Formats: sequence, structure tokens, C-alpha cells
Amino acid sequence: MPDKIILAYSGGLDTSVAVKWLQDNYGAQVVAVTFDVGNAKNLAQVRQRALDIGAVKALVVDARETFVNQFIHPALQADALYEGQYPLATALSRPLMAKLLAEVARAEGATAVAHGCTGKGNDQVRFEVSIAALAPEIKVVAPVREWGMTRDEEIIYAQERGIPVPVTVSSPYSVDENLWGRSIECGVLEDPWSEPPEDIYAWTKSPREAPDTPDYVEIAFQEGLPTALDGRALSGPSLIQELNRRAGEHGVGRIDHVENRLVGIKSREIYEAPAATVLLAAHRALEAMTLTKEQIRFKERVAQEYADLIYNGLWFTAFRHDLAAYVQSTQRFVSGTVRTRLFKGNCTVVGRQSPHSLYRFELATYDQGDQFDQGAAAGFIHIWGLPVRTQAQAQPKGEGD
Ligand code: ARG
Repeated sequence: MPDKIILAYSGGLDTSVAVKWLQDNYGAQVVAVTFDVGNAKNLAQVRQRALDIGAVKALVVDARETFVNQFIHPALQADALYEGQYPLATALSRPLMAKLLAEVARAEGATAVAHGCTGKGNDQVRFEVSIAALAPEIKVVAPVREWGMTRDEEIIYAQERGIPVPVTVSSPYSVDENLWGRSIECGVLEDPWSEPPEDIYAWTKSPREAPDTPDYVEIAFQEGLPTALDGRALSGPSLIQELNRRAGEHGVGRIDHVENRLVGIKSREIYEAPAATVLLAAHRALEAMTLTKEQIRFKERVAQEYADLIYNGLWFTAFRHDLAAYVQSTQRFVSGTVRTRLFKGNCTVVGRQSPHSLYRFELATYDQGDQFDQGAAAGFIHIWGLPVRTQAQAQPKGEGD
């Protein structure tokens, strides 16, 4: 039996009950660790709650810079979107948390870590596979998966032991948030036919109530990474934070996704990801200017693989390492500026420029200055069509072809 367990502590009902439950059922001391990945909670309060419940120690780790630089930015450069819709906010945060948990466990001389995930979701997989990759000697305990209590039983368990029940338990929704996005599940959302009620949204205005004048944002990129908004250089976290606010104000970034979980369940999820929506659109627009058709085509396939591996908890693998190397190489000339218009729920790219642009006005124009040799097109078509002519001769078409 481990004598000390490092618990990833969010301050919600599950992990609050887990502090006591781990003491009662494993006879272990509990060290609570709360991660700041840009989830706007009062973390000093969360930390105090852990201590009040009986944690021997409670740490708050500011992981925002690392989250952006080592997880969000590589995913943005890869254009990673799970099933073409979900920018992977939660999925990207779990390997980071697992890594930090393992570090704390080693520093504290603990042989086990614990998380508050249920047995039905993706997060348990991401935590446990990441720990297995980074610190195979560490045991993982999953109290919520083990205890088999319903929500009401948990509340009674908490009340009987003087565990303060967080006010959020009155909400029928399950929410997770960090800099890259916010997810909302449960309650009425479990009926995929019912339109999400307006009160589930916290980061985005309803497009109906969004301002009647658009906001234009110019985003500068250096080798595939966003560096400035409207000419103002910003750190990674601040840039994302500001863009979440500006795009959210115009109702940009609401996503309604029936997704395929790794454990085989289809689940209806609502996401709010204003900054991610804008940055992914802008980044792809800049790639359209600076990469060739073949580079873009192949990169789209890589993006799908990359998104799947992030979703499926395979961040700390050689496969990710290899894909990341490919993506990194593609970003050498993805520098420039993209102009986006935020208006009534939409983010539209309206302009793009790059010192490494492959777009040539003198080739594209139909006006003065056209340098494209139209006469050469005839020879090109003659050769291009050669196999088609050959086949048409040798294999005459049948009826209806
Ligand atoms: N469905 C999303 C994912 O698998 C969001 C999960 C949210 N997690 C949570 N514990 N509420 O990444």
C-alpha cells in the first residue's frame, strides 16, 4: 500500500471526496496538486479547500507557459482538430498534468498518483498511458472508477465527513476548461436532438447578441507560431487569452460535436474555443500562401493522425515525436500576417501576406502585367491528356460511360 499519494486536485466534488476516500481506503497521506492551465478559478481557495479536507500538503503549479509552448503550439502548427471539429483543449492538458504529477511524486518520494476521472471517458486513458510512458514505476489510483458511488451518494459521503461540497454541484453540467477551450457535457446536452441552452456558455456571446460592427484582428506568425495581435507582441498565454476575449465577444468558437470516444461511446459535447478557432483558421490561411499543394495535402493527413494520437492519449510516444519533426520542418516559411474578421459568430479570413508567399500576382492576374505564358498551355494539355487519349483509343467506351 502506498503511504503517500499525489492527487490531481481540481477542487470539484469528485476530487474533494477523493482526498478523504484515499485516506480511508488506502491509509495514505494525500498531497493535492492543482494545475493552472488557464482555468480562471481562485486557485488559492482551491488549495485551501484541499488542506481543509485533510491533504497533508497542497500545491498549485502554474503550468500556463509550458502548456502553451510545449502542447498548444505544436498542436496549432499541426492544425490538429479531432474529427475536424474539436481543438483538443482537454486532451492536450492531460499529458502535461501527468508529467507534472510524476515529477511531484518523485520529489515527494511517493509511489502512487491519483486522478478524479471516471471509467467512461478519455481522460483516464490520457493520464494513465502518459504516466506509464514517463514513470512506469508509479502506480495510478482512480478513486472515482473504484468507489462506484452515484453523485447523490458522493454528496452524502461528503456531508457525513464534513467535506465542503462545492457550489458547482448544483449545476447539471460537467465542465472542463483551460486556455485552449472549454467543454460542457451532461444534463440536457445528452439528448443530441436538443439545442444547447444559452446558459451553458461562459466564454462566448450569443451571435444574436454580438455587436453589429465587426472586429478585425491581425495575427502575426513566425514559423507557424502566433507572436502578435494587431502589431502588439504578446506572450503565448496572453495572446490566447486576449483572443479568447475578443472572439468570444463576437460569438466565435461555439462547437456542437457528437464525437467518438476512445472507449467506444459516442458522446455529445459542446465546446467554446474562440482563440483556437481563430488561430487555427489563420494558421491554415498562412499555410495556403506558403506551402505547396503537395505539402498541404500531406500535412492534412498528418494533422488527422496527430489529432487522433492527442485524443487517444499517445502524446509521449515515438509516433508523436516523429510527426512533430515533420510538422516542425513544414513551418520554416510559415511567417507573415493574417487578417480576420470576427462577426456574428463567424471568423472569416479576409487577408493574408507573407515575405515567403508562393502567391504571384503576375501569374494570377488577368489584367496588365500578366506574365503567364498562355501559349505554353496548349503543349501542357497535349502531354497531360496523352494517357487519356491513349486509353480512349485502346479501350472504347461502352454504353452510358
Ligand atoms: N470530450 C472531450 C475530450 O475527451 C472533453 C472531456 C472533458 N473532460 C472532463 N473531465 N470534463 O477531450
